[in-house]
Amino acid sequence: MTIEQHKPIIIAMTGASGAPYALRLIQRLAKCEIQLHLLISDAARVVLDKESNFILSADLKTMAQEIADFLDIDVKYLTCWGNKDWMSPVASGSSDMQDMVVVPCSMGSLARIATGASSNLIERATDVMMKERKNLVLVPRETPLSEIHLGHMLALSKMGVRIIPAMPGFYHQPKSMDDLVDFMVDRIMDHIGVDDGGALRWGNTERKGE
Ligand SMILES: Cc1cc2nc3c(=O)[nH]c(=O)nc-3n(C[C@H](O)[C@H](O)[C@H](O)COP(=O)(O)O)c2cc1C
Repeated sequence: MTIEQHKPIIIAMTGASGAPYALRLIQRLAKCEIQLHLLISDAARVVLDKESNFILSADLKTMAQEIADFLDIDVKYLTCWGNKDWMSPVASGSSDMQDMVVVPCSMGSLARIATGASSNLIERATDVMMKERKNLVLVPRETPLSEIHLGHMLALSKMGVRIIPAMPGFYHQPKSMDDLVDFMVDRIMDHIGVDDGGALRWGNTERKGE
């Protein structure tokens, strides 16, 4: 399914548990033929290996091809950037990108985003989204949450950042881990305005095939 004229979307993966959410989001958005800018922290690489047995190369072009192959999507939709690639368009408010998702979002990245400590490209890109009043979605994952974590989330929410914690529901009676992952990805896609026709909604518990 093609979503016409959707602007490129920035997807950042940080080192919280939940790499499958990011992978599935990338897959569904690429299948909608949306250009994606991918930012992956060093800790996210470790989590990706641990959770999905997926070891990424350091070279950015190779990395994009590996992700495309892993997800069975066309590499032409993926552009990977390094953590210090300050010349990337995502580092500037002059870019035409309107949406960014940090999924999963670690408590470390959450804290740095909340305080504007732009020490890497992920944090710089989130800082840009906030200063430009664009759409920033964070998918934090930790449990239990400390007052520090909750305080950062409240501060960010007050600034208009969308906080979508990785908390899948069970009322759609998931049969598999994929069902749980898609539950979260459906909600993330709602908040970046992409409807691929596959989302489960209240009162509609039958997922359409791809
Ligand atoms: C397998 C694994 C799972 C982790 N899970 C979480 C988590 O769920 N939430 C979290 O905040 N940090 C988690 N961490 C710790 C972060 O990766 C660590 O704080 C890291 O410094 C975050 O860096 P980043 O924000 O630059 O990605 C996990 C680390 C590993 C290796």
